[in-house]
Order: sequence, then structure tokens, then C-alpha cells
Amino acid sequence: MDVTRERAWQTLTRYTKSESLLRHARAVEASVGGYARRFEADEETWRATALLHDFDYEIHPTLDQHPQDGAPMLREEGYPDEVVEAVLSHAEHLALPRNTPLKKTLFACDELSGFVHACGLVRPDGLATLEPKSVKKKLKQPSFAAGVQRDEVYRGAEELGLDLDEHIGNVIESMRPISGELGLRG
Ligand SMILES: [Fe+2]
Ligand SMILES: [Fe+2]
Repeated sequence: MDVTRERAWQTLTRYTKSESLLRHARAVEASVGGYARRFEADEETWRATALLHDFDYEIHPTLDQHPQDGAPMLREEGYPDEVVEAVLSHAEHLALPRNTPLKKTLFACDELSGFVHACGLVRPDGLATLEPKSVKKKLKQPSFAAGVQRDEVYRGAEELGLDLDEHIGNVIESMRPISGELGLRG
């Protein structure tokens, strides 16, 4: 099969109706897509993988199902191992090796994109003037966006081999152009 972000979007929206989950998928897609360009990787495949990483979360909302029960569904649809294995590897509880740039990037962008989104939602100008410094400050406030696993944010940057400031800056920059779709002002 030809992996395209369009096809991945179709798969995602067949199983996901929640606006917030769709926004999460779009935010992670933007961040991973930014890195695909930066690393000169296959942007279409990387974007598709990002869109699909939580595609089954609505039908498999618990860790004994997500994403492991979604993976065979993706295989059934014809997505290649590269995509399916990356989707599986974003889940910490499966403890799979993140041994490709795509796997490392997806993991590094998953929680952080959600966190940057949360930062943008409480600012009058969304992401327009958001800087890594203020994201880092908020990361140290446990009550802010409490669902975001801080250790995964820190480890993600490490595994990617990037300084946290640089990684946060990249994610903000990648998400800015889709602020409107993410429900952010600015
Ligand atoms: Fe997930
Ligand atoms: Fe996610």
C-alpha cells in the first residue's frame, strides 16, 4: 500500500470522533512532520504514523488494549511494519525498543505536543509568542496539564539527542501554522 497522510486520516477518523483526540493527532502530526523535514525523512510516512499512533484509543481506551489491539487492525488495512511498529513503540507499557528515528521522534513529540497545546490554550495569543522557557516553567508545575507525563517529555528529548529547549522550540514552531485547527487563538 502507498502510505499517505490522507489515507491515515481516513483510518483515524473512521475510529475516532472525539474532537480533542483528533486535535491531539493533528498536533503530533505537525511536530513529527517538522522533524521529517529536518531529518530529510519520508514526511508522508512520518505524518501518517503520527496521525495513526492513537487511532484506536477511542475503541481501546485502556492500556491492556491500546495500542496493541489496534496494531493488527493497521496490518489488516495494509500499513507496513515501519508504521505499525512505530505506533506500537510509542506505548511505554509495551517497553519496545525505539530503534529508528521515526520511533524516537514519535515518542518525543507525543506528550510534548499535548503539553504545548495546553500552554497555548491558556495564552491570549495562543502559540504566537510562546517560548521554550515558559513551557519549561510550566512543566515544573505538577498541577498544570497534570495528565502529561513529565518524565516522558524529558526522556523523549534525550532519546532524540536534542537539548530540551531546542526540542520544545521545534515543536512550537511546527504547531504554530495549525493553531486555528487546534482551537488556539493567534
Ligand atoms: Fe497512545
Ligand atoms: Fe498520543
